Amino acid sequence: MEQREEESVKGQKVVLVPAELNDRRRVYEWCFQSETTKSHTGPPDYPEKSIASYEEFCAEYYEEYFFTGAKPEDGRGYLIVYEDTAVGFISYSSFHVKAGIAELDIWMDSEANCGMGFGTDAILILSEFLNRANGISELIIAPAMQNKRAVRSYEKAGFTHSAKAMVDFLETNYVALYGSGDYGLEETALMAKSFH
Ligand SMILES: CC(C)(COP(=O)(O)OP(=O)(O)OC[C@H]1O[C@@H](n2cnc3c(N)ncnc32)[C@H](O)[C@@H]1OP(=O)(O)O)[C@@H](O)C(=O)NCCC(=O)NCCS
Repeated sequence: MEQREEESVKGQKVVLVPAELNDRRRVYEWCFQSETTKSHTGPPDYPEKSIASYEEFCAEYYEEYFFTGAKPEDGRGYLIVYEDTAVGFISYSSFHVKAGIAELDIWMDSEANCGMGFGTDAILILSEFLNRANGISELIIAPAMQNKRAVRSYEKAGFTHSAKAMVDFLETNYVALYGSGDYGLEETALMAKSFH
């Protein structure tokens, strides 16, 4: 972890450390094969949202550049590190949204590391970093409406329920793919934070 310190971003509780290719498998497992998976994907609460395989995760969700930093204008992933231990992952994506906007995604590795304030701190740090270093003026995040813990955390990080629709943020080419949100129009909570 030490050699990555230079590019890391420090918060009140956690540090964001740029993720590397050899983190990709465990980041996948935290997302789709851990005790926190049921909060956002799969049965019993999300029977229609299927659990991705590692191959699908790499091809459809998290291309290589999230773990190499090769396309900072399109997106980047970070390990959320607390006292030298990685406790989760956060990323921003801009490849599919209009100029000046980024979408955040986040998940912790275990229930023990949820409810500790780590997620909220990570979102605050990344939001401020993106505004300062990448000129991002508006952030969006889109959990399931029923994921109350996520909604509460994002509210604490300064996000509010947006009056806009996902299509208002998306580049035209991505409207068909992402216009309804991960959970459908009715069940996705579109939240936004503006630096204007
Ligand atoms: C969502 C997530 C990133 C938030 O990070 P976190 O570190 O757990 O968030 P925090 O501890 O800062 O805040 C959680 C808040 O939710 C509250 N909360 C927990 N369960 C809740 C519930 N069922 N209903 C309402 N609020 C709840 C906590 O009390 C806390 O609020 P408080 O500080 O006002 O008491 C993390 O919980 C997580 O990874 N969850 C599993 C994966 C996931 O759902 N990812 C998001 C996909 S969009």
